[in-house]
Amino acid sequence: MMGKLALITGGTRGIGAAIAQRLSRDGYRAVVTYHGNDAAAQAFTRDHGIPAYKWDVADFDACEQGVREVERDAGQPVEILVNNAGVTRDAMLHKMTPEQWRTVLDDDLSSCFNMSRAVIDGLRLRGWGRIINITSVNGQKGQFGQTNYSAAKAGMIGFTKALALESACKGVTVNAVAPGYTATDMVAKVDPALMERIVAQIPVGRLARCEEVAHAVAFLVHDDSGFITGTTLSVNGGQYLS
Ligand code: CAA
Repeated sequence: MMGKLALITGGTRGIGAAIAQRLSRDGYRAVVTYHGNDAAAQAFTRDHGIPAYKWDVADFDACEQGVREVERDAGQPVEILVNNAGVTRDAMLHKMTPEQWRTVLDDDLSSCFNMSRAVIDGLRLRGWGRIINITSVNGQKGQFGQTNYSAAKAGMIGFTKALALESACKGVTVNAVAPGYTATDMVAKVDPALMERIVAQIPVGRLARCEEVAHAVAFLVHDDSGFITGTTLSVNGGQYLS
């Protein structure tokens, strides 16, 4: 039997790539989206046999068209959506440009609306679905230099709770996973001296591995997790206990 189709946004690198590989290994049929990095996407598809589609998750119409194309190609509907794509544009508020604010809110938060909107009718109609939103410890606790990112990631948690309420009676669960600092390209951009100070605040004493975040997603996707909805599962090494 064909596994359920799982779509992971921002899935060719970092946490998203680990989620796609894990769900594949668990017997789901994974497809990923990406936006900028063609070389990484080609390498990912070549190495893992997981198809990668290019579109901008901040673009509402592109999401609708993209999801329909994925479903046509696969010959089956998307039943699992992982809203993982996200960017940072760190700056203190008194230096932040409207562009830096807008980019992060559009890419990280509005993308959840755009993508969820493109799959929700089908999930409700068929009576089964999983939506997992990848938020961040910095949406839970706030982070110096990230008013935009903390707002977007906290917004994802509210979005998760509201959509969970709307979807519960339709067999569709909606949850968030909140990773702490994880070994990815995004975190590698932070100044090394600053990173040393951040790691010192993580009780486990290291960054998360992408596979450890993927494990939390796999748990929530599982058929046995049908009674878990509207929650935020932290994977942060004890850095912040909410
Ligand atoms: N707490 C308190 N003070 C801080 C601070 C912090 N976390 N970070 C910086 N400061 C202080 C600096 O020490 C400095 O003070 P002095 O002038 O007295 O030395 C002052 O604030 C200004 O700092 P900078 O010179 O660094 O200012 P800047 O404008 O050049 O850069 C910044 C500011 C871009 C926010 C930079 O500090 C930075 O990159 N911070 C990292 C933010 C961060 O953690 N981002 C996470 C990215 S990873 C991610 O987001 C993934 C995820 O989900 C976890």
